[in-house]
Amino acid sequence: MEHFRYENNELYCEEVSLAELAEEFGTPLYVYSKNRIIDSYRSLQEGSPGKSVNICYALKANANVGILKVLVAEGSGADVASGGELSLALRGGFSPSKIVFTGVGKREDEIAFALKEKIYCLYAESLQELQLISRIAHALGITARVGLRVNPHVDAESHPYITTGLNHHKFGIESGKIIEAFQYAASLPSLEVVGLHTHIGSQILKLEPYRATARYLASLVEQLRETQIRISHVDVGGGFGVPYDHVVHHEGLGREDRPNNSAPAASEFIATLLPILEPSGCTVWIEPGRSIVANAGVLLTRVLYTKENRKKKFVVVDAGMNDLIRPTLYDAYHQIVPLKIDTYEQEIVDVVGPVCETGDFLARDRSMLKTKQNDLLAVMSTGAYGFVSSSNYNGRLRPAEIMVSHDKVRVIRQRETFEDLI
Ligand SMILES: Cc1ncc(COP(=O)(O)O)c(C=O)c1O
Repeated sequence: MEHFRYENNELYCEEVSLAELAEEFGTPLYVYSKNRIIDSYRSLQEGSPGKSVNICYALKANANVGILKVLVAEGSGADVASGGELSLALRGGFSPSKIVFTGVGKREDEIAFALKEKIYCLYAESLQELQLISRIAHALGITARVGLRVNPHVDAESHPYITTGLNHHKFGIESGKIIEAFQYAASLPSLEVVGLHTHIGSQILKLEPYRATARYLASLVEQLRETQIRISHVDVGGGFGVPYDHVVHHEGLGREDRPNNSAPAASEFIATLLPILEPSGCTVWIEPGRSIVANAGVLLTRVLYTKENRKKKFVVVDAGMNDLIRPTLYDAYHQIVPLKIDTYEQEIVDVVGPVCETGDFLARDRSMLKTKQNDLLAVMSTGAYGFVSSSNYNGRLRPAEIMVSHDKVRVIRQRETFEDLI
């Protein structure tokens, strides 16, 4: 059964009416389907029947502790990108032995925090970072497990802001220098070199970039072996793309004329990677974020006003770019649908928020079902990079977050109040 679906013209999350949630908890409101998160997590394993990939959920996609606990119960590890995310991962219950720390600019205090908590490993992205980890580990009298992030120079063919594996990007150590960097790491005191890491981008819709990356990593493991450096795992990062259009269906919702953005199933990404990487003898790790949570979340919003000028029709809603920055930042597409369908009449509108920026929009020139003042809408596929990127810009209070499981409803974050702004 679809976790978000219309029943009698009313949109449901699992067994709960979204309109009722919006009335009870107010808008804007993030709502997540617990069982969709679980299904998405499990579907990653389906690409590797009988084999194991080690999944480290990337907290940057959605770090609500309520969601983290669901993934801990599924046996997931965690990929953290800051001291803050590390503290959330620990609060969520992830075992430190299943946590990896990624990121190009880790501070000294963050490295010390990670080492004291005995996380599985830190992925270093420069020789200076390796030096610093070695120095801190030495001072603490421990051995730090490290991996090195390589920049493989593979084009993920995604949005330029979320493509990370090309030579002109800030991420990783360039492929021409990576063997030398491993040798350097092996020579430093208080370090144990355990892994090889990369991450080529996010919302990747093709398998080929992964195939190219896996082939490159497999050959790198071979070359490292020839220089007597043996690593136990290869971490391919995250990035598995998800569908953003036509995620919820109803005969009244017109089909948008959009380029083909269909995404392979998550299991297909894994099925592409494993046969290439497994012969290396290393365990395969991945750091998915979006593919686990994106389509498990919606942002509910209310229509404040509708208006029209000479050029455009506007639907002014109570969710803005501070609640969901993806349309403004990446021109990202999110399907926007009414919580109750009472007309099949379509119109072309801009759906805009209350923030004082022309860039504050959720959709532009969008053909959608006609809405009127006070209608409730769902912005679909907002479980990833939604709430985590929200802000108090314009003095706006960040939304509450709700988790639905079957007919059960739980508040997993309270709506902010004016006191939170001070
Ligand atoms: C190092 C690293 N790992 C994992 C991820 C998660 O990516 P995604 O949410 O696309 O799966 C990211 C996101 O950019 C990342 O930078």
